[in-house]
Amino acid sequence: MGLRLMGDETAVWEAAARVLDANWTGTATVPAPGLYPHQWSWDSAFVSLGLARHRPERACIELLSLFRGQWATGLVPHIVFSSGVSGNAFFPGPEFWRSGAQPDAPRGVETSGLAQPPLQALAALRLAQGTGEHRAFLTRLYPRLAAQHAYLERERDVAGFGLVSLCHPWESGLENSPAWDRPLQAVDPPRSPFSGTQSPDGAVADRHVSLVRSMRDAGYRAEYLRDDHPFVVEDPLFNAVLLASTHALAEVAELAGADPGPHREAAQRIHGAMLDRLWDGGCFRARDVRTDELIPAATVAGFVPLLDPELPAAIVRSLAELLLSARFAGATGYPVPTCDVQSAVFDRGAYWRGPTWVNTNWLVWLGALTHHLDAVADLLLGSTLRLVRQSGFRECFDPFDGTGCGSHDFSWSAALVLDLLGSRRCR
Ligand code: GLC
Repeated sequence: MGLRLMGDETAVWEAAARVLDANWTGTATVPAPGLYPHQWSWDSAFVSLGLARHRPERACIELLSLFRGQWATGLVPHIVFSSGVSGNAFFPGPEFWRSGAQPDAPRGVETSGLAQPPLQALAALRLAQGTGEHRAFLTRLYPRLAAQHAYLERERDVAGFGLVSLCHPWESGLENSPAWDRPLQAVDPPRSPFSGTQSPDGAVADRHVSLVRSMRDAGYRAEYLRDDHPFVVEDPLFNAVLLASTHALAEVAELAGADPGPHREAAQRIHGAMLDRLWDGGCFRARDVRTDELIPAATVAGFVPLLDPELPAAIVRSLAELLLSARFAGATGYPVPTCDVQSAVFDRGAYWRGPTWVNTNWLVWLGALTHHLDAVADLLLGSTLRLVRQSGFRECFDPFDGTGCGSHDFSWSAALVLDLLGSRRCR
C-alpha cells in the first residue's frame, strides 16, 4: 500500500479494507449489511474517500453509480434504492417515496426525494488528486456535480439569503440531532405506523414520515417548500459541506476545462451567509427559518464550518476552544460527542444526540487541518483510531468509554479510517 503505518495500523488497515470489500455490491457500497441495503448519498461520498486509498477504480464506480439516481432538477437523492432488494427491507421504501410518479425523477431507478450533505465534489476532487488520473473521470462527473449544486442554489435556498435549507431532518445526515427538536414541534404528527427501528420515539418518527408525505404529495416542488412546508432549517454542517464542495467544484471545473468563476462566486456567497446567519458569537448554530431564530442546541455540526478556508482567525480560535473544552472533547475520552455533554439534551446512547461518529470526526479533522490546528487534528485522528481498535467499525460509539453502538461493519467508519491512515503519507 506504499504507506508507513505504525504498530498495529497495518492490521487496522486490513480490517477496514475487508469491511469495504464485504459491503461492495458490484456497483456501490451498502452502508452496512442488513440495516441499510441501498445506496445513500453522503455515505457513498465518504466511502469513495476510503476506496480511493484501497481500490481507486471502485471509488470512481461508486460515485458514478450514485449519479444514476440524479433527477432532471439536479437533485442527488439521499437514497438510491437497489433493485432486487425486498420493498420491506427498509422503511420508507420506494413505494412510499413514489419517485417513479415524478416527471423529473430518473426512469429505471427508484430514489428518495430528499438531499443529504453534498460532499461529492469534494470527494471527487480528493479522489482525482490522490490517483492522479483525473481528466476523463472529472470531465464525466463535472456536469452532474454542477447540476447538483445549481439545484441546491436555485430550489433550496428557501429563505433567500444564500444558504440551503433542510426540509427534513434526514437531509442533515444527523437525523435525531437535538437541533431538530424545536422545529419538529411545528409538524403535526399523523397516525402512521413507522416500521423502522432507529428511533425509540414514535412521535418523532411519525413527524419524519409526515414530512416526507407532505413533500411527496406536493411533488417535491420548490414553491411548496418555500410557501407551506413546516420544517425549514439552515444547518451549519450541510452548508459548510456545501461550501467546501463548492470550492472543490471550482477546481474540478478547471481540471475538466470548464469555467470555475461561477463556483468561486457561489463560495463567497455561502461564506458570507454562514457568518451572517449562523454564527452567534461563540458557536455556529442552526437557524429555524420559520421562526427566524437560532436553535440553542450546540452540536458537532457547529464545528464543521472549520472547513471554510476563509473563516476569520478569531472564529477559528473560538471554535477550537469550545471543541477542546469540557463541553466536547475536554471531558470525553473518545471525542467528538455529537452534542454538548453539559446540555440537558445530551444522551450518550441515543443516535446523534451524544455518541461519537467517525464521519463527523473526519469532517472536523479536515477542518482542523484546513486551519493548521495540528494538535486538534492529531487528537481526532488518534481518538478515532482508538475507537475502532477497541470496538471495531461500528456505526457510532459511546464518547466516554468507546463502546460501539448501532450497526457492525459500518462502511464509512472503515472508509474514513483508511483515509485518515492514508493521509499520513501527505503530511
Ligand atoms: C442513518 C444516518 C444517515 C446515513 C444512513 C445510512 O440514517 O443517520 O446519516 O446516511 O443511516 O448510513
